[in-house]
Amino acid sequence: MSKQLVVALSKGRILKETLPLLADAGIEPLEDLDKSRKLLFDTNLPDVKLVIIRATDVPTYVQLGAADLGIAGKDVLLEHGAEGLYEPLDLEIAKCRLMTAGVVGQQQQGARRRVATKFVDVARRYYAEQGIQAEVIKLYGAMELAPLMNLADEIVDIVDTGNTLRANGMEPRELITDISTRLVVNKAAMTMKHDRLKPLIDRLRQAVEARR
Ligand code: ADP
Ligand code: PRP
Ligand code: MG
Repeated sequence: MSKQLVVALSKGRILKETLPLLADAGIEPLEDLDKSRKLLFDTNLPDVKLVIIRATDVPTYVQLGAADLGIAGKDVLLEHGAEGLYEPLDLEIAKCRLMTAGVVGQQQQGARRRVATKFVDVARRYYAEQGIQAEVIKLYGAMELAPLMNLADEIVDIVDTGNTLRANGMEPRELITDISTRLVVNKAAMTMKHDRLKPLIDRLRQAVEARR
């Protein structure tokens, strides 16, 4: 393994909250990420590089060791599975909830529920635990549309303010779990590169604690 440390960052809404946190921890990209089409960036720390990738790809990069560290939502991590990953730190950003939701006033009928979500494994596990028979339908976005179009009876999705649900005549039902962004570390790297990783993780932890 090289002595370089690669950190995989989720692009999109997490990235906006990640960069100030990294800066607080003393890690800053050498160029403006927004103004570049590049995906791999040098930082002020000569041995630390950043890659900016789809949120759902972050656990894969870290699990397989293409990145040593990753920053990803707990929702994405739950759906991916924890194999090969340590999760040493809750970064306490992009907080939201993973919930079931349905059309306002529409009660569930029938023994079998059609559930639209991009979190199919999390949803299957949740409904199984509840003893509810569910047919889980995989979507890649705009889950809130599915019940309105009679594609599904219910959805499993991220809820923050509830505005998206409200705007589509839907309401939150059951909380599946609270979500926030986590730091993940490749298990092999945690051993092989411990001397380099430990101070970096400690600085991030201090940055998180300083914000409380
Ligand atoms: P995607 O394109 O996959 O939806 P986003 O950038 O919107 O990616 O979201 C990335 C992560 O941010 C999610 O995995 C989740 O952890 C968190 N997140 C998503 N929606 C919200 C929200 N409305 N409020 C706070 N955090 C959110
Ligand atoms: C996310 C999520 C919900 C919405 C919840 O969508 O998928 O639709 O936020 O937030 P709210 O409760 O505050 O309305 P996002 O804005 O990320 O759009 P996307 O479909 O592009 O992921
Ligand atoms: Mg989103």
